[in-house]
Amino acid sequence: MTLRGDGPRRGDSLSNLGVIKDGALLVRDGAIVAVGARAKVESRPEARRAEKIDVGGRVVLPGFVDSHTHLIHAASRAEEYELKITGATYEEIARSGGGILNSVKKLRAATSAALKKRALAALKQFAVYGTTTVEAKSGYGLDVSSELKILGLHKELNVEQPLEIVSTFLGAHVVPAEFRGASDGTERYIKLLTEKLMPEVAGQKLAEFCDVFCDRGAFTQEQSKHILQSGKWRGLTPRVHAEQLTRTGATQLAVQLDAASCDHLEQVNRSDIRALAASETVATLLPGCDFHLGLKKYAPARELIEAGTIVALATDYNPGTSPTLSMAMILSLACTQLRMTPAEAIAAATINAAYALRREATIGSLEVGKQADLAVFEVADYREIPYYFGVNTCWMTVKRGKIIHSRDVGKN
Ligand code: NIG
Ligand code: FE
Repeated sequence: MTLRGDGPRRGDSLSNLGVIKDGALLVRDGAIVAVGARAKVESRPEARRAEKIDVGGRVVLPGFVDSHTHLIHAASRAEEYELKITGATYEEIARSGGGILNSVKKLRAATSAALKKRALAALKQFAVYGTTTVEAKSGYGLDVSSELKILGLHKELNVEQPLEIVSTFLGAHVVPAEFRGASDGTERYIKLLTEKLMPEVAGQKLAEFCDVFCDRGAFTQEQSKHILQSGKWRGLTPRVHAEQLTRTGATQLAVQLDAASCDHLEQVNRSDIRALAASETVATLLPGCDFHLGLKKYAPARELIEAGTIVALATDYNPGTSPTLSMAMILSLACTQLRMTPAEAIAAATINAAYALRREATIGSLEVGKQADLAVFEVADYREIPYYFGVNTCWMTVKRGKIIHSRDVGKN
């Protein structure tokens, strides 16, 4: 499945996978130099001396692009998982000092080395599940040194292990505990974000994007606008956590600011969908959250697709709402809960996700000139990727032409 073609996938084109039966790819220096029918690719003069990897009739697709994760965190929140199962809501837990603030406490107490070790283990697993690019947000530090510590780790990890890390500054996750209580606490925290942290983040090139959790219990639409605009002035492209728990108008704000993506969207209304459809902002759906929180209301994927929005899928890997790093699991949820077809889900997890990260020139499809980022699945039919759930059918993962995961014993 090449996912080749121009532009982000909207509407019917979301089902267009660009399948080549009995295909082959020729890779040089980490980039794709030819892709097409096997006989044709093999007959090219440069192919003769190439090292051959026979994937034996398995399904090859672009490596998954996980465009929304909270990669760096110190620990799970399994205790809250149990509280939720026995009746507490996500917001109740957050109001009593749990939730994001719980993860903030744990992160601040953790050493950089411990955080890195945990992130490296996770990244290894991402690769095992067929993901080759991971967006990563800060947001569990919420003070100058801890936020910079997280973003510094994104930078180190990007060069010290094979997966590509795309860094997002999410200082506006929630207002940290030490700023709560006083009536001007939120205002003072926003000032810290925009006047102290952002200049550092932008100056040291620690992030490409700026995100805000715009929701009840986090930041209002007006506050989010101010934060995202400040980021934009400093060269940080906006993206937004929008309409997850309540409808705040964050989607329209994202469109107004030409945000790269607008994520969650469980509570969007018709006019939000229309605004998104008329924009280039990607609608990133995160069904892992609703599944993990046991919520019944998933984002209206069908309406979004039929209206013509650019739909992407991501894990939202984080300890509070979506502790999974398996894109295949997300595809399974997209199929059964969002009623997306397997083809639509695959396009949403590859080429459209590349658009969400503004990386469409280098990743998201198997086309000449792009990076050789591949996932090979041990299935007979691509629909089996979401069909099998709770098991990993990824057989090999390749990043920039290098095998980074392989099921074959002895290889890697
Ligand atoms: O994307 N919604 C805000 N942020 C995360 C959850 C963070 C947490 O609970 O730790 C999310 O769902
Ligand atoms: Fe998130």
